[in-house]
Amino acid sequence: MKVLMVHAHPEPHSFCAALKNQAVATLTAQGHEVCVSDLYAMQFNPVATAGDFLQRENPEYLNYALEQRSAFAAGKLCAEIQTEINKVIDAELLIFSFPIYWMSMPAIMKGWIDRVFVSGLFYGGKRIYAKGGMQGKQALVCATLGGRDYMFGDKGIHGSLHGPTGMLRSLLQGSLGYVGMEVFEPFIGYHVPYITAEARVQLLSDWQQALLELDKRPVMQMPLLSDYDDTFRAR
Ligand SMILES: Cc1cc2nc3c(=O)[nH]c(=O)nc-3n(C[C@H](O)[C@H](O)[C@H](O)COP(=O)(O)O)c2cc1C
Repeated sequence: MKVLMVHAHPEPHSFCAALKNQAVATLTAQGHEVCVSDLYAMQFNPVATAGDFLQRENPEYLNYALEQRSAFAAGKLCAEIQTEINKVIDAELLIFSFPIYWMSMPAIMKGWIDRVFVSGLFYGGKRIYAKGGMQGKQALVCATLGGRDYMFGDKGIHGSLHGPTGMLRSLLQGSLGYVGMEVFEPFIGYHVPYITAEARVQLLSDWQQALLELDKRPVMQMPLLSDYDDTFRAR
């Protein structure tokens, strides 16, 4: 299987990076082909601007999504974006590893999605969820955070992290599910800065086991297009 790891942590010796390295080692040992986009190491530019297009459909007014659509079709996206798109097209499984920043992903990863998940290829019109441009691919999120596990969930002070109203839902459903990928339940490392070395070793081992048993990992429920037939027809 071809795997793309999109990794976003500014410190190469962080625990988050150790999880990334663990994934590369585990998957490679299993015979999978792993490509890593280490966004901080690459100094990936996360800011979507007019400079992303080598040629513009409308030079007077920037409608970013429309320009994405025509530039992709014409092969006029800047090289940094086109390179990442090629990696995504090539991959069967995408793994996103990052520390939770403000209940979300770091800005550099959000910007990677903004610029790389281009309209026209990844989604467009009614090509979303089960009909999204990336159907057939799978996605797995591996995130670390500072809070304790009991702080999340229906009764936790922060509310749900990845449930239907969860704060990671914008990534899991709004981006990865939206473009048609099958999204696994995320792997979360809670309380990472404060746990013992033994607990860290256990977490690395749990992550390795999760990767070895990916075929048994539950996938997240995404909206069924058939439930929204009327909404779709009305527009
Ligand atoms: C800007 C910033 C925002 C953060 N926001 C959260 C947060 O919303 N919830 C949380 O539990 N931890 C939060 N943290 C803590 C990090 O997620 C945590 O330190 C990191 O995942 C630990 O992994 P590492 O040792 O690999 O860096 C935040 C840290 C930073 C620097």
